[in-house]
Amino acid sequence: MMNLILLGPPGAGKGTQAKIIAANHGLIQLSTGDMLRAAVEAGSPVGRKAKAVMDRGELVPDEIVVEIISARLDGADCKGGVILDGFPRTLAQAAALDRVLKRKKLKLDAVIELKVNDDQLVERIAGRFTCATCGAGYHDRFRQPKTAGTCDVCGGKTFLRRPDDTAETVGRRLLVYYRETSPLLGYYYCKGNLRSVDGMGSVEDVGAAIEAHLPRR
Ligand code: AP5
Repeated sequence: MMNLILLGPPGAGKGTQAKIIAANHGLIQLSTGDMLRAAVEAGSPVGRKAKAVMDRGELVPDEIVVEIISARLDGADCKGGVILDGFPRTLAQAAALDRVLKRKKLKLDAVIELKVNDDQLVERIAGRFTCATCGAGYHDRFRQPKTAGTCDVCGGKTFLRRPDDTAETVGRRLLVYYRETSPLLGYYYCKGNLRSVDGMGSVEDVGAAIEAHLPRR
């Protein structure tokens, strides 16, 4: 059982690596981005509030995401450990997470930072697409389906691109990361939780570097 945070700018590979770590260690992946997109899709009150903010590449208010994560951590499936992907994203969210974990008597085992150059981030985001059926992630250059037009995982034929993956919005998302989220690196360094990983290698190499930092069981 372990609880992890994956920290890094948009396009760093958090979602890609979170899915692999979750599968290898029996953890639940909690992506606030995925949860918010599901809320937008469902047209729920949270989704209606979040949509315009997300499309602009800005952050959804702290109280909304803290409430979503806190409620989700109560799920019986989270008892075996979680990997937080895209949360926390502000110092206020990190402080709220500390309080939530303390109240639920849970411990944070490690915060993994994925370090990727800005030019590479923009390229990764610009080429990203996912399977509309199962959500498997692909890239125009770096990770194409084995058979063009068919998902490797579920055989789905329809693919989606995110509305916030435009060149203009990517710039804003990066700026928001440096302004609001990068201070968390110092926060977790001072707490002794931070483990930094070179995220520029292949998906497999980055995965191996993350594994080397995970607590041994
Ligand atoms: P969110 O969904 O969290 O997006 P993000 O942080 O911008 O991160 P991304 O999903 O874009 O990138 P990723 O690091 O997961 O990269 P991926 O693995 O896909 O958030 C979206 C929005 O929701 C936010 O802007 C905000 O509005 C809101 N939000 C979410 N959480 C919030 C919070 N806590 N507070 C407030 N607002 C919140 O990889 C990218 C591409 O690169 C893929 O195509 C992949 O195949 C490829 N790739 C991955 N690894 C490699 C590699 N090693 N080599 C080559 N290609 C690779």
